[in-house]
Amino acid sequence: RNRQPILAIDGPAGAGKSTVTRQVAERLNLLFLDTGAMYRAVTWLVLESGIDIEDEPAVAELVHQCQIELVPQKDPLGILINGRDVTAEIRSSQVTANVSAIAAQPVVRQCLVEQQQAYGRTGGVVAEGRDIGTYVFPDAELKIFLTASVKERSQRRQLELQQKGLADISLEQIEQEIAERDHKDSTRSIAPLRKAPDAIEIQTDGLTIEQVTEQIIRLYHQKTSHLT
Ligand code: CDP
Ligand code: CDP
Repeated sequence: RNRQPILAIDGPAGAGKSTVTRQVAERLNLLFLDTGAMYRAVTWLVLESGIDIEDEPAVAELVHQCQIELVPQKDPLGILINGRDVTAEIRSSQVTANVSAIAAQPVVRQCLVEQQQAYGRTGGVVAEGRDIGTYVFPDAELKIFLTASVKERSQRRQLELQQKGLADISLEQIEQEIAERDHKDSTRSIAPLRKAPDAIEIQTDGLTIEQVTEQIIRLYHQKTSHLT
């Protein structure tokens, strides 16, 4: 193969993808590609422009013209769309509530997947999202499917919100939002959230970020040790 290895990490919201992927990228010296941030940035742009999110031709036009830049060295990852820094804006509850509807549109996926594949052309990348192992990089050397119960994922989110001083949302509400997004992401017709047949599933309930990171690094070395 004339590229460096690729590591694909998929799973539902709150499974630990972003946190673990960042650590894995640092430890293995790989480029970190957060594809969820790209879908969030496009969603922010659509909301900002005031067009109807269901107006697919109008969304398509915006997406085709937009330029996304990632700054993976920053924590949290920096992201710019059309030159504007939207790192904080893409995490808003409004973007979170609308991102699955935007991400289900074929033209949006086509456009972003092309950019993701270009990013991974030379390899040396760890990418995380929903369709990395199934669709974006189907020939990745290692595919991980990270999961955790809805309860655990909701508790993690709540803790995260509390730490940011945004504790005004109940656990029940978070659970409901997460379950709804899981459903939308798993049932859409194009590239739904699904474990690739050759992916290794890691159930992370009760596991620390460090334990999950260690496990993935071990698997990565196993899978790539025969490559030169
Ligand atoms: O961080 P969190 O798990 O909340 O979500 P994210 O990874 O930032 O992704 C936000 C949304 O983008 C997901 O709920 C999906 O609707 C969409 N997404 C996608 O469709 N395909 C990807 N490869 C990544 C994200
Ligand atoms: O990217 P994704 O939505 O899959 O999850 P994340 O944003 O990386 O993680 C969600 C929250 O869970 C973060 O606050 C992490 O610090 C936390 N987490 C955890 O407590 N234990 C893990 N094993 C993984 C993540």
